[in-house]
Amino acid sequence: VLRTRITTNRGGGIALDLADATGTPLGRIDTLTLRPVTAEQLDTTPTHDSLFHLDWRTLPAPNPSTVNADILEVAASTIDGDVPAAVQTALADVLVQLQEWLTADEQDGRLVVVTRGAVATGGTEQVTDLAAAAVWGLIRSAQSEHPDRIVLIDTDGSLEDLAALAGLDEPQLAVRAGEVLVPRLVRTTVPAEAALPPVTGPVLVTGAGGALGGLVARHLVTAHGVRDLVLVSRRPSTTLVEELRELGAEVRWASCDVTDRDALAALIGELTASDGPGLAGVVHAAGVVDDGVLESLTPER
Ligand SMILES: NC(=O)c1ccc[n+]([C@@H]2O[C@H](COP(=O)([O-])OP(=O)(O)OC[C@H]3O[C@@H](n4cnc5c(N)ncnc54)[C@H](OP(=O)(O)O)[C@@H]3O)[C@@H](O)[C@H]2O)c1
Repeated sequence: VLRTRITTNRGGGIALDLADATGTPLGRIDTLTLRPVTAEQLDTTPTHDSLFHLDWRTLPAPNPSTVNADILEVAASTIDGDVPAAVQTALADVLVQLQEWLTADEQDGRLVVVTRGAVATGGTEQVTDLAAAAVWGLIRSAQSEHPDRIVLIDTDGSLEDLAALAGLDEPQLAVRAGEVLVPRLVRTTVPAEAALPPVTGPVLVTGAGGALGGLVARHLVTAHGVRDLVLVSRRPSTTLVEELRELGAEVRWASCDVTDRDALAALIGELTASDGPGLAGVVHAAGVVDDGVLESLTPER
């Protein structure tokens, strides 16, 4: 593990301090000079080979080395009933156990987090436990913050010794019918004639006053020819509305708090009423970030 502290020095340059996982200094770069790149220097020719998808591949003859591993079994939940509550409960439970393990652990062991039905590895397989799927999201962030310490395994129960898989140098694994599968990115081939159908009718964009919502709204108009937009945030953004109208779109602004179910239902009811415009699509980009590294997360966050 190489940890890097990045600071700006007086001359405006960037300095880097390099240390190992225990904080022992390894080196220092006094000045890193960055030069602007012009558009011409970048190859901006559109390519059609930059789309990838995830494929689960069988790991041929896994040969794990023995490592010291603890197991955290994630309790099963079902997707019936109150899904958000089940997700919150599962995440809070795993978070607490993860934080306890990190505090107690001696820095050389690994933690194997075991789920069932959290990922679909192909074919007709479905995710059967949405709470466990959310746990994968949490753990994958934890893996970025604590590299080589945590291993995620989604199992169908066909292999006994999951701790033995912790030494495989693979952060995420699935066990299906006694085989060990690993996720790999593979190129997606898109047929040359593949094109999105034209969008007719209004598209609702929440969080339109924010960074992502604004980008999405512009992209819908310029790249997909959307001509009718309904933009939602709590506070209006007149500059965006003007800009989109100049690009030829018809834009309605609806100031609405999307956490207010009644207000949102009234807005959607208006748009989907039999004599209303109908809705061609929804992009939900409203949100408020309150995040932090694993050690500072709370169940509420
Ligand atoms: N930017 C990124 O790179 C990035 C990457 C990954 C994920 N995200 C997530 O994507 C979401 C949007 O990101 P952003 O960067 O665009 O954030 P942002 O610039 O802060 O914009 C958030 C937008 O959501 C609106 N909003 C917040 N709460 C709302 C509510 N209750 N009802 C209606 N509108 C509401 C805000 O407007 P008002 O305050 O006026 O309502 C604002 O227009 C966030 O949840 C963020 O965590 C962002």
